[in-house]
Amino acid sequence: MVSQSNDRADTAKNALNDEKPLLQIRNVTKKFGDFTAVNNVDLDIHSGELFCLLGGSGCGKSTLLRMLAGFETPTSGQILIESKDMSGVPPYQRPTNMMFQSYALFPHMSVEKNIAFGLQQDGINRSEIKDRTQNMLKLVELQGYEKRRPGQLSGGQRQRVALARALVKEPKLLLLDEPLGALDKKLREQTQFELMNIQYKVGVTFVVVTHDQEEAMVLSDRIAVMDKGAFIQIGSPTEIYEFPKNRFVANFIGSANIFEGRVIENTSKSLKITTDLGEVELKQSSTLTVGSTVYLGIRPEKISIDKDASSKKQDFTTSGVVEDIGYLGNTSRYKVRLDQGTLVDVTAQNHLRPQNRSHAFSWEENVSLHWDASNVMLLTS
Ligand SMILES: Nc1ncnc2c1ncn2[C@@H]1O[C@H](COP(=O)(O)OP(=O)(O)O)[C@@H](O)[C@H]1O
Ligand SMILES: [Mg+2]
Repeated sequence: MVSQSNDRADTAKNALNDEKPLLQIRNVTKKFGDFTAVNNVDLDIHSGELFCLLGGSGCGKSTLLRMLAGFETPTSGQILIESKDMSGVPPYQRPTNMMFQSYALFPHMSVEKNIAFGLQQDGINRSEIKDRTQNMLKLVELQGYEKRRPGQLSGGQRQRVALARALVKEPKLLLLDEPLGALDKKLREQTQFELMNIQYKVGVTFVVVTHDQEEAMVLSDRIAVMDKGAFIQIGSPTEIYEFPKNRFVANFIGSANIFEGRVIENTSKSLKITTDLGEVELKQSSTLTVGSTVYLGIRPEKISIDKDASSKKQDFTTSGVVEDIGYLGNTSRYKVRLDQGTLVDVTAQNHLRPQNRSHAFSWEENVSLHWDASNVMLLTS
């Protein structure tokens, strides 16, 4: 597992150093009448990447994916695959394939026939079809199931048939629209890992559309966070989570406590900001001018909660009263009302069972909160 994730990181790095992107999206806009569904997006995707388009319902993810597949035409802008302009190229002549959800399988055909269907349409000879179908069955671990019909499979197995059917045609770019949308939570999590492993084995570039931030975090080499047809931020899951650029991204990916502040000093190496909670010094360079309004974010899991204010030496200490407790088993969530009035979310790991915890907190209890300045996220809007 560990060595594989290192390999994945290497793939992403190599991909980014690669001179020629597999896919280039150049200032693409799509309008439906007066309505702008995709607004001037610009993106390069490299060979071997698993890229997620992430955003809420209606933000334009599917429209963008459908333009890549050739089912929609951009109103303006350009899409290039392997440096070739795709305008006017129909879907079946593009080196792309779209994976549809498992309910799009042919119910009256066996697993084997479902997978082989596209190859038969292309007039490929029988022995090659047999070989390629067998390879796919092996890849998605469905050997022995070839004679079953979709209705005789579990949801996860059906999903793997749909994937095999899309991959058997050996596209350079596989487009997946909410591929795991039909699965329940547990199966979804398991299938996410399968999907990653399969993508890694075949080395095909994947562009996945999802509205599920956890799914995007688990699957992706890189994510584009979308809102109202535009890209808000593009980066690796770590970059997006640890260094969101604005309040929208900070709240969309995970949750964040946010404090408004004002820049009071900017040396080239650090930034001093005043907030309701006092002054904070952030050791980072920035072009922000003195007097500008900024927002500081701190994630709930990066705050320590304690009974004793003097027990921990972190950069920042404040105090408040526990107003609400949510017990989730592995973690607990606390809502703490700070003395100055703000309500702060804190998440704590439950390493021990309650009877063994020296400090289990209760409602109305006075607590102190601590965090390091290095964990504070600087948000510019
Ligand atoms: N063919 C169409 N005609 C008019 N409006 C459309 C059409 N397709 C999508 N839209 C609109 O464009 C917006 C983006 O849709 P879509 O790309 O499907 O969003 P997402 O996949 O992110 O949920 C939505 O408001 C949707 O209603
Ligand atoms: Mg959609």
